Amino acid sequence: MRKINIAPSILSADFGKLAQEVAEVERSGADWLHVDVMDGHFVPNMTFGPLVLEAVAPHTKLFLDVHLMIEHPERYIEAFAKAGASLITVHAEACVHLHSVIQQIKSLGVKAGVAINPATPALAVREVIEDLDLILVMTVNPGFGGQAFIPGTVRKISQIAEWREQLGLTGLHIEVDGGITAATAPTVVEAGADVLVAGSAVFGREDRAAAISEIRGSVER
Ligand code: DX5
Ligand code: ZN
Repeated sequence: MRKINIAPSILSADFGKLAQEVAEVERSGADWLHVDVMDGHFVPNMTFGPLVLEAVAPHTKLFLDVHLMIEHPERYIEAFAKAGASLITVHAEACVHLHSVIQQIKSLGVKAGVAINPATPALAVREVIEDLDLILVMTVNPGFGGQAFIPGTVRKISQIAEWREQLGLTGLHIEVDGGITAATAPTVVEAGADVLVAGSAVFGREDRAAAISEIRGSVER
């Protein structure tokens, strides 16, 4: 079985003590750290830019998984790469020239991902799948933590996993983001997801180690 990576999303962390929050999930068994960047245009909410990533990066050894929910991501990719991103994901819906944006990310020595919203078909990534390190299937509409998982997104995970298998893309990660808990994780892992973003399910709990191990326990039996 593929290794399952759990990626707590700092969107639900206490920003007043961000470095401590990150250290705590690292100690508690997180595999990756998910960093949500929102611009108030592509999504109705705003978070932060590369400066905050740059401040967090020296405090952790975790793989820094940057999710750009912004318009014109090509303008900011270099800044996020310099700030310490390990992987940068852009939204297919936000890129007119998706192929070129992927090449831009890779040219900076950073891994590349593409995200698709719940209403976007899996086919939106089909022509670039061989260039990617990760496909992010949004399991809620992006913008806010704590929303309910949308079950209709699961068939897209299965479709992408089928392409991964057919094309022999063994290194391609399938990530899910939104409403992931110990209750919803088994369905997405069964469909082929191997990176599970969890915001409120981890940072919303006092005991982060218990939260992470409950999610892991639900899929690794
Ligand atoms: C939503 C963000 C998510 C968010 C998930 O737009 O992309 O990463 O933090 O939060 P939960 O896990 O609470 O649904
Ligand atoms: Zn996210």
